[in-house]
This record gives sequence, C-alpha cells and structure tokens, in this order.
Amino acid sequence: MSPSRWAAWKVAALGAALGVVAVLTARDLASAADYRRRAEASAKVERGRRLVLTHSCNDCHTPVKMGPRGPVRDLSRMLSGHPASAPVPVEPALEGPWVTAGSATGTAFAGPWGVSFTANLTPDENTGLGIWSEEMFIEAMRTGRHFGASRPIQPPMPWRSLALMTDEELKAIYAYLRTIPPVTNPVPDYQPRVCSAIEN
Ligand code: HEC
Repeated sequence: MSPSRWAAWKVAALGAALGVVAVLTARDLASAADYRRRAEASAKVERGRRLVLTHSCNDCHTPVKMGPRGPVRDLSRMLSGHPASAPVPVEPALEGPWVTAGSATGTAFAGPWGVSFTANLTPDENTGLGIWSEEMFIEAMRTGRHFGASRPIQPPMPWRSLALMTDEELKAIYAYLRTIPPVTNPVPDYQPRVCSAIEN
C-alpha cells in the first residue's frame, strides 16, 4: 500500500472510531437524562404520597368499612370519595348544640351548609380527577372554588389550609393522585341547605 493510501486509511479508521464514540456518548447522555427525569418524577410522586398521608386526605376521602375490631379504611376504594353504593343520607335534624354530623362511611357530612360528599380523587376518567388538569387542581385548592372556578367548596374540606401549600407541594400531590388505582365511583352532588349554603 502506498504511504498516501495508508494515511487515508488511518484517517478513515480514526473517523469511524470517533463516530462510534460520539454515538455511544450521546446515547449515554440521553439515558442519563432520562434516568434523572424518571428519578425526579418518582421523587415528586413519593413527596405527594407523603403529603396526602400527612394531610389526612384519606380520613375523609377513603370510605370506612366495618372490621372485626371496628371501622377500618376500605383501601380497595382508596381516595375514591363517598361511595355511590351507600344510601344518600337524609339530612339529619341538627338541634341544640349539635350542628354537624357525619355518615357511617366517614365520607358524607351534614351541617349548616347542607350535605357534602367527599370527591373521588382517583384518576378515573369520568367520576374522578381524570379530566382535571394540574392548573385546575391548584386553582381549586387556592380559591376554594369547585373545579377552581364555580361554586364554593363546602366544609369540612380544609382548602384554606391546603391553600397555604407551595405550588411545588400541590403539584406533588396532583402527581401522586394521578398514579393511584382509578376507581369508578360517581359521588352524589352536594346538597345545599335551602337558605344557608355557605358563601366562602
Ligand atoms: C375533613 C375532611 C376532608 C379532608 C381532610 C380532605 N377533604 Fe377534600 N373534600 C372534602 C369534602 C367534604 C369535599 C366535597 C366538598 C364539596 O362538595 O363542596 C372535598 C372535596 C375535595 C376536592 C374536590 C374539590 C372541587 O373542586 O370540587 C378535592 C380535589 C379534594 N377534596 C382534595 C383533597 C386533598 C388532596 C386532601 C388532602 C390534602 C383533602 N381533600 C382532604 C373533605 C375533606
């Protein structure tokens, strides 16, 4: 082989080797970025899970059922709100010093505002938060308005304290709620007390 052809071969081989290194490096960088994105997303979901647990969402949004030693959370219906299968309780007559009452499922509440039923927070398309955007969720928690825009959200939903959360915390809660098992459960509509629905 003539010296000039040999030099050309060497340049070509070096070029090919550099090309392989470049492709491999780009692939590594892409998978490192992908890994970081996935790690951040799962840290966000985990943060949301902890916020949901520490802010008692289950206490009102997960129905209770009777166990051998008393009422326990029905985790097969976790965060799915007041069960559509439960009878819609007739508003109790609240008299004297008693002004509020709760249903046996722990998911319906009666008081001067009427009767409120906890919402289905699972990602079910039609009966849960399926169609809710992150913005709607944050807006509802911040303004205390149903869907972030319409009627006032009624007691005992503690939106005033949740409104104090940072955007990051509310986004983490929303991200977690998108990951829980969807449960189809059409919660009954809020029943205002005729003259005294609470205007927040
Ligand atoms: C003390 C009981 C209680 C707790 C605790 C609670 N909620 Fe609620 N929540 C309710 C009730 C009752 C409603 C239904 C109110 C209504 O229909 O106006 C509701 C409604 C909602 C809605 C629907 C709002 C809308 O626009 O209609 C969302 C979303 C929600 N809660 C999220 C949460 C999250 C997230 C947590 C925990 C961080 C939580 N709730 C904790 C009682 C509670």
